[in-house]
Amino acid sequence: MSDALLDRIAAAETLQDLDSVRIALLGKQGEITSKLKSLGSMDPDARAAEAPKIHALREAVSDAIAGRKAALENAELERKLATEKLDLSLPAPDSVTGTVHPVSQVMDELAEIFADLGFSVAEGPEIETQWYNFTALNMPENHPARAMQDTFYLEPRTADEEPYVLRTHTSPVQIRAGESHGAPIYVIAPGRVYRSDSDATHTPMFHQIEGLVIDKGITLGHLKWTLETFVKAFFERDDIAMRFRPSYFPFTEPSAELDVGWSMEKGRRVVGGQEGWMEILGSGMVHPRVIRNIGLDPDEWQGFAFGCGIDRLAMLKYGMDDLRAFFDGDIRWLKHYGFRALDVPTLSGGVGA
Ligand code: DAH
Repeated sequence: MSDALLDRIAAAETLQDLDSVRIALLGKQGEITSKLKSLGSMDPDARAAEAPKIHALREAVSDAIAGRKAALENAELERKLATEKLDLSLPAPDSVTGTVHPVSQVMDELAEIFADLGFSVAEGPEIETQWYNFTALNMPENHPARAMQDTFYLEPRTADEEPYVLRTHTSPVQIRAGESHGAPIYVIAPGRVYRSDSDATHTPMFHQIEGLVIDKGITLGHLKWTLETFVKAFFERDDIAMRFRPSYFPFTEPSAELDVGWSMEKGRRVVGGQEGWMEILGSGMVHPRVIRNIGLDPDEWQGFAFGCGIDRLAMLKYGMDDLRAFFDGDIRWLKHYGFRALDVPTLSGGVGA
């Protein structure tokens, strides 16, 4: 019996044939499926005798089908490899038309810089629960910081569903990364965020990068060194004045904003020199309550975090002055400010491409 079935499988010459055999044997009305069904009406002794045989048969048939499938797929691949050709001597097009958007470029630069410091990249959803976006970050309901973020709330689907939000910052990824990997944690989380706001320097969707370190014995000194190393690598100059200004964020204590010195070069404000200060990011030591919400003991684990606007970093480094143009999709802008696809940022080559 079983040999005849195996012959039928071996005789299938195409994937379609094989699938028909599979349906005839294992499908809803298949031969083996009906045998399995017949077990239900047998008396217990007969069932005890037949069940192992039928199950073994089903197993043998499934294995044979999988084996035949792999063989047919392999043969198909071999056939393609033998017949399809790619002519590598054809000339490349004169000009590559697509460009890499400055935001993507800067994200790659940041990933490169932080990978070198031992960070990996973490992600989270853009449609987020209020727990991750606010509560777990020490912003309970009625906390004034919630109202300050111009949040987009989604229409609840049922009367008792708490509305989801479009994440207003990348900070919820702190909680998600902590929950999924445990400590120690060294991650960055670049991504889209949303706030109901629009003018030359604000768009309703923009990009942030979050950084989170949790380990034992982490101090403000580690935060300061990391940010200094990052800023100098990103702007590719050493003469960057920096100052920490005390600030407030619910999820860090103490909190500080990082200001960098700027100066005018060829009529444009650049980072470096010391004609004035501008703020570039928020940071601080992770609040013990946040560490607890990740599921860790704050007496054992400490950490620092920072959050920074990516679009703003791109504007400062590459000299654009209107954020709205980033997302207009104007081909002239993309050609002018875009990067060539092969300009992959590397630390050794200078991350600026
Ligand atoms: N989430 C803050 C914002 O969107 C930025 C921020 C500040 C992130 C301080 C941090 C931090 O991780 O420590 O304005």
